Amino acid sequence: MLQGCDASILLDSSKNIITEKRSVPNQNSARGFEVIDEIKSTLEKECPNTVSCADILALAARDSTVLSGGPNWEVPLGRRDSKGASLSGSNNNIPAPNNTFQTILTKFKRQKLNIVDLVALSGSHTIGNARCTSFRQRLYNQSGNGLADFTLDQSYAAQLRTRCPRSGGDQTLFFLDFVSPTKFDNSYFKNLLASKGLLNSDEILITKSQVTKQLVQQYAENTELFFEQFAKSMVKMGNISPLTGSRGEIRKRCRKINSINRTA
Ligand code: HEM
Repeated sequence: MLQGCDASILLDSSKNIITEKRSVPNQNSARGFEVIDEIKSTLEKECPNTVSCADILALAARDSTVLSGGPNWEVPLGRRDSKGASLSGSNNNIPAPNNTFQTILTKFKRQKLNIVDLVALSGSHTIGNARCTSFRQRLYNQSGNGLADFTLDQSYAAQLRTRCPRSGGDQTLFFLDFVSPTKFDNSYFKNLLASKGLLNSDEILITKSQVTKQLVQQYAENTELFFEQFAKSMVKMGNISPLTGSRGEIRKRCRKINSINRTA
């Protein structure tokens, strides 16, 4: 993803490739690769050498959004797959939950995504989980003074502390949207306004910028507006530097580049 939407994240380590699955943001976090393998092998039987792993990822992101109750959109297709991966790119360019607001915005802007895209796409945290280790700092020592994050609702924080202790339990999972964790809706934004966003990168959307705070308020009030912008921003994000023409390849298996597939 860091060099563009080229399915580099799906590659396992091999002779010339160090997998991005081992990067700090991805390790013990990115998962579900076997689902993509299954889609790809079914597709290869029906229609070989045609649909890239990068297009499969973009379509799966859209379909999982629709299946969980979110908006639908047309996915532009024709991406090709990378022949390499970048562990350092994955470590340096993916926003971290404890990055400052400015750092996160800068990382988005580098990919030609603006402040509206930032807020709308963060709305994806209306589904899914985060590990204790991704937000522990907020519960015990937000700014190095041994105190919890004062922008986090204190009873919500106390509840989180029961399953996310000071040490241990790093991999324990918590809903990003505790109100409706499997439904794609706008309750993520409502939670933020109640100071019940799970990640620091969620909460700063209402504490560090008036522009993002207003967008959060609008999306909390108006699901349609959020859905419309989310769809637009997903198309924009999916169009980040795709490989086209003779660049890249259409992998036969998503975990390996074709030259390796042939010798395997
Ligand atoms: C704004 C910058 C962002 C930051 C700092 C961020 C950070 C995170 C973190 C730390 C987690 C939990 C990972 C873990 O503990 O294993 C997470 C989960 C998730 N993020 Fe983000 N994220 C950001 C933007 C996005 C965007 C743009 C999308 C997609 C449009 C997205 C979709 C998701 C989803 C669906 C999950 C749940 C995954 C699961 O349940 O396995 N995030 N994010």
